[in-house]
Amino acid sequence: MNVSKRSEAMQASPIRKLVPFANEAKKRGVKIYHLNIGQPDIETPKVFMEAVRKADIQVLAYADSNGWEPLRRSISNYYKRMGLPYEVEDIIITNGGSEALQWAFLISCDAGDEILVPEPFYTNYRGFAAPYDVVLRPITTHPENGFALPSREVLETLITERTRGIALSNPGNPTGAVYSAEEIRMIADIARDHQLFIIADEVYREFCYDGKQATSFGSMTDILDRVMIIDSVSKRFSACGARIGSLTCKNRDVMSAALKLGQARLCVPTIEMIGAKALYDLEPDYFTPIRERYEARRNIMIDALQKMDGVLCERPGGAFYAIAKLPVDNAEKFAIWLLTEFQLDGKSVMVAPVENFYQTPGMGVDEVRLAYVLNTEDLAEAMRVLATALQAYPGRVG
Ligand SMILES: Cc1ncc(COP(=O)(O)O)c(C=O)c1O
Repeated sequence: MNVSKRSEAMQASPIRKLVPFANEAKKRGVKIYHLNIGQPDIETPKVFMEAVRKADIQVLAYADSNGWEPLRRSISNYYKRMGLPYEVEDIIITNGGSEALQWAFLISCDAGDEILVPEPFYTNYRGFAAPYDVVLRPITTHPENGFALPSREVLETLITERTRGIALSNPGNPTGAVYSAEEIRMIADIARDHQLFIIADEVYREFCYDGKQATSFGSMTDILDRVMIIDSVSKRFSACGARIGSLTCKNRDVMSAALKLGQARLCVPTIEMIGAKALYDLEPDYFTPIRERYEARRNIMIDALQKMDGVLCERPGGAFYAIAKLPVDNAEKFAIWLLTEFQLDGKSVMVAPVENFYQTPGMGVDEVRLAYVLNTEDLAEAMRVLATALQAYPGRVG
């Protein structure tokens, strides 16, 4: 029996590909610092489990396909606290931001239609687009200028008659870049003038540093009929396992398409929605100490990287990732070497090669993504290990 060509063609996670090497290293007794994956170590707020424990449920029935209304109301209130005008009927609950992204691609595109995406981008966008034959067209951005977007003129050259939308994560995974208000306005103008949807992946919204804030596409009130906002409790509240996200849009056609998709998978888990409501009811100052913790970690990591000979790494403004350009022949080879051949005092690091986060062949071969999701002590030690490894690596260049 053969499986379908399209399932065969799907990309396996480029990050998870290195896991067997890490497991082998651990079996040999090497301590591995995981800088490779965006799993926060911050405790999930206790209110999540408290709300779940308090729930007195006799029959665990199907929930509404568009989600448990009290959760939708809490998300609407969360948006309104930020000045975004979203009502309960503009919000549908999804299985993580991942399902919301799949739906956004499906709702905006027919087979063969195109979505523009700044590259490097979150590699799962490929997995969300591929089943629906949605073509991702890269907008190439560069580490040298902090992954800023190109000018409107350059962006417009990428638009074809098949282009249906622009998808972007802000703050960005994997770049950590936060787009300026002017960049967001430019995308909004292009979308309006070329009749495009905007798939606004804002799951890292609260994680902006240096006193700055990310501009939400939800604040671009003249184009709200074409904006789909993707949100999630995964990173925001360190609740990745809850699998609760949402798709938010003012466009009734988009919302009725989303509801049909919701009905086709019946509903999202009730228990998790009860916990997620308690998260969205937290006061906004919940984020202040968390942001400070991430900012301190970012500074430790970036200060160390910038001191390493031959490493290029601009200080990113948000999320909890940075891309570093390394003086190595090939970042994947280096990542494997770190796990198979290198150790310093019984320790090594796991990094994510970035080549697969680009769509354009040949881009990012010497770049890695580093996630600062470790405590400050471990992070400093991981940087010491990485600095030593870069000196010792046989494929070092420059
Ligand atoms: C940019 C971005 N969008 C969406 C997601 C999906 O998150 P989830 O499905 O856990 O909500 C992630 C997860 O890493 C992400 O980094």
